[in-house]
Amino acid sequence: MSEHQDWSQGLGGIVEEIGGHQPPEIDTTLPHSARMYDYWLGGKTNFPADRALGEAFEQAIPSIRTMARENRDFLGRAVRHLVREAGIRQFLDIGTGIPTEGNTHEVAQAEAVDSRVVYVDNDPIVLAHARALMVSGKRGSTAYLDADLREPERILSHPALTGTLDVTQPVGLMLVAILMLLEDEDDPWGKVRKLLDALPVGSHVAITHPSADFNPEAMGQVVAAAEQGQLTLVPRTREQVAEFFGDWELIEPGVVPVMGWRPDGLPPADPQAAYYWAGIARKRS
Ligand SMILES: C[S@@+](CC[C@H](N)C(=O)[O-])C[C@H]1O[C@@H](n2cnc3c(N)ncnc32)[C@H](O)[C@@H]1O
Repeated sequence: MSEHQDWSQGLGGIVEEIGGHQPPEIDTTLPHSARMYDYWLGGKTNFPADRALGEAFEQAIPSIRTMARENRDFLGRAVRHLVREAGIRQFLDIGTGIPTEGNTHEVAQAEAVDSRVVYVDNDPIVLAHARALMVSGKRGSTAYLDADLREPERILSHPALTGTLDVTQPVGLMLVAILMLLEDEDDPWGKVRKLLDALPVGSHVAITHPSADFNPEAMGQVVAAAEQGQLTLVPRTREQVAEFFGDWELIEPGVVPVMGWRPDGLPPADPQAAYYWAGIARKRS
């Protein structure tokens, strides 16, 4: 598979990638967050159930596609910031999503060719796509780990991670649009804490999270639609999102609407138009 694989090849290509059979874990009759996100971003790896719930969300929040794009743009700005300003050369990106343009390794390696990235996701379709991402450049490398954020110890001790990242050196942990997919009962704060505790001083964590703070009514409709579609979606308040950073030092401008986090160019006219909080924090000495 070439580095410049055509991501638009759809499920046919994916099934080929994973050995000619659709594995039983891929249930395309239920909507899935990665494939809905792919749908909003204009990708082709989505199915009628994903599109139906994606459209129900869009009815409640007509700008949902722009929001997905804004979230993705933050990922690019965050990775560039971490490479340029914080000197980060290794990333742990949990909740990879179906690859589209501007994936973490592409942004990081465009800035610093020796950047290393470990992707983690628990979705088999993402797995199939992400395997094709495991391309090593001249010095940089990319690995993929099929694991669940709810098992941080497994992620941290897995050979795919320890063989790719040097966890004695600062790591950029990306938790972009994933934490809302964990119920409170899964203790997402505790899981994130385990990851943060394992990383050395100088590491950074980037988080985005949808919230009802911006438009409670619209977000309420989205949550109701998600429940009907059997999809977990837990919007959280700014305070709850800020708690994920623990005692790490938030870098400027703190936890802000995603569009307002160090925008490229002119500040957006209405930064609250995308209903996500975003922030980056650094582990202090
Ligand atoms: C909305 S997508 C975000 C993709 C990417 N981070 C971005 O912002 O462009 C969420 C991703 O998290 C993955 N995911 C959901 N729950 C997860 C879990 N418990 N452990 C690992 N990955 C998970 C989904 O499969 C999906 O690929």
